[in-house]
Amino acid sequence: MERETLFSGRKVLTGIDSGADNYIMAIESSCDETACAIVKNGREVISNIVASQIKTHEKFGGVIPEIAAREHLESINVVVQEAFEQSGLTPDDITAFAGTVGPGLVGCLLVGLNAAKTLALVHDKPFIGVNHLNAHLCANYLDTDIKPPYIALLVSGGHTQIIDVESYSKQTILGETIDDAVGEAYDKVARLIGLPYPGGPRLDKLAQQGNPHAFELPQAKVEGYDFSFSGLKTAVLRLVKSFDGKELPVNDICASFQECVSSTLVKKLKKAVEECGYKQIVIAGGVAANSEIRKKVFDLEKEGYRVNAPAMKYCTDNASMVASCAYFNTNTFDDIDVEVFSRI
Ligand code: KG4
Ligand code: ZN
Repeated sequence: MERETLFSGRKVLTGIDSGADNYIMAIESSCDETACAIVKNGREVISNIVASQIKTHEKFGGVIPEIAAREHLESINVVVQEAFEQSGLTPDDITAFAGTVGPGLVGCLLVGLNAAKTLALVHDKPFIGVNHLNAHLCANYLDTDIKPPYIALLVSGGHTQIIDVESYSKQTILGETIDDAVGEAYDKVARLIGLPYPGGPRLDKLAQQGNPHAFELPQAKVEGYDFSFSGLKTAVLRLVKSFDGKELPVNDICASFQECVSSTLVKKLKKAVEECGYKQIVIAGGVAANSEIRKKVFDLEKEGYRVNAPAMKYCTDNASMVASCAYFNTNTFDDIDVEVFSRI
């Protein structure tokens, strides 16, 4: 469905049925990445710039919101300029400017969202406000021909959801975590065994060198499609304490934790896709970069499903997914006065 935006008295059509090529410039700044991208018709990435703050937050062991917001301010103009330079396009070529509205860190979101609104106002183009979670799903459209319907497993630092994506704009959450998100569990367990921030990817690397069956860790029994990971985190804490200061078999602990998380996720994902009767599965979010989760989800191809995962660079926070979402999903926040939000 196209959307019609009244802009400076002009009607501007954007979106999938707008009948013309759309070049959407998007900005993402919800956490610790300042990103800007230009995407043609929701799928073709023309430029993709990401300034990561990992080095800044590493010494604190996690993201410090005030410092993150200040770094976004320093990087925002640079990433916008680089996105234009990499694309060879000018503001005149842009159909609409998009920005992440939430969920995320409020001070961080404010920087990117205000930049996107300002670009729209200055260049007299429509503004499209995007939900960060919807954007993660749309990372699956980048450089592919994937179309709904499908079942999605969305795993990020703040969310863990199984979603029935019926059409580009109609989604139903079938289940979600009742406590910790998967990424949060990865980061907490990583800290517990002494790995530096960001813990998730580091834990994943060590897990690949360990024995996934070295330790039996508990899979929480939760109804339906919901998840719980806080008990697993406590079980790892107990396991670590049981070594009583002796050298930890870090690789085996990582591998056993990763085995427990990935098999829990994939078991419910499989149940959901079987019950919905769809033939397609996608994964999305920062944790979709995880080697074992990807492997187990792609194993479902053997059962006749089409499986897709975004390229690694589009799993973690980036602006191309925001631009794709602005194009495909009409459940957006297109009022220039829209305010940022931290949680759904
Ligand atoms: O989607 P994302 O970039 O930010 C949010 O929207 O939350 O996800 C970040 C999360 C972090 O918790 C990070 O540790 C985790 O994704 N992550 C991973 C991997 N790469 C990133 N977790 C496990 N294995 C990975 N390879
Ligand atoms: Zn994210």
